[in-house]
Amino acid sequence: MICGERVTLRALEERDVELLRGWRNHPELFGLHFGVLPLSQTEQRRWYDSYSGQSATKVFIIDNEEAEPVGYTLLKDLDHKNRQAEIGIHLDPHAQGQGYGKDAFLTLIRFCFQELNLHRVYLQVFDFNERAAALYRKLGFVEEGRLRECFFTQNAYHDVIQMSLLENEFKR
Ligand SMILES: CC(C)(COP(=O)(O)OP(=O)(O)OC[C@H]1O[C@@H](n2cnc3c(N)ncnc32)[C@H](O)[C@@H]1OP(=O)(O)O)[C@@H](O)C(=O)NCCC(=O)NCCS
Repeated sequence: MICGERVTLRALEERDVELLRGWRNHPELFGLHFGVLPLSQTEQRRWYDSYSGQSATKVFIIDNEEAEPVGYTLLKDLDHKNRQAEIGIHLDPHAQGQGYGKDAFLTLIRFCFQELNLHRVYLQVFDFNERAAALYRKLGFVEEGRLRECFFTQNAYHDVIQMSLLENEFKR
C-alpha cells in the first residue's frame, strides 16, 4: 500500500475488476479516455488475465479515509531503461472535487520518482478537460505539444495535449 495524506493506493485485486469496469463504462468518464466501446464482463476479465501476467502496467485502486474505493490511478509502459512511464487517473464522479485527485496523483508521482527511481512521467489530456489539465499544471506538468484534432467525440474533433513532469521539476 502506498499512503498519501488522505488516500491510500493499493494494488488492483481480482475482486476489483467489476468496479473498474463500472468506472471505465461510466457515462461521465467514458468520453475522457480513448476507449471506443463499453467493455463487457468477458472483455474486462480477459484484460485482467493478461494484466496479471505482465509488469509494464500497474493499476492502483484509490481508497479514501474510510477505506472506500473512490477511483483508480495507473502506470503504463513502465520503461526502466529510459526511466519513464505514462500515468493516469480517474475518480468516481461522486468523489471528484474533494481533493482526492490531487492527493492520489501526488502520491503516485512521489512513488514514481522516490521509489521506482523514474526520471520522467507523462500523460495525455483532451483539450476540453480543464479540470484535469488544471490539476496537472498545478503539480508542475509542462505542455510538450498537441496532437491536433486527434480525438473525436460528440461529433467534434479535439486536440490531445501531451504533458510531462521531470524528477528535478517535481523536487522544486
Ligand atoms: C481530474 C481529476 C483526477 C481531478 O481530481 P479531483 O479530486 O476532482 O480534483 P481535486 O479536488 O483534487 O482538485 C485538484 C485541482 O484540480 C483543479 N480543479 C478541481 N475542480 C475543478 C473544476 N471544477 N474546474 C477546474 N479545475 C478544477 C484545481 O486546480 C484543483 O486544485 P485546487 O483545489 O488546489 O484549486 C478528477 O476530477 C477526475 O477523475 N475526473 C474525471 C476523469 C478524468 O478527467 N481523468 C483525467 C483524464 S486525462
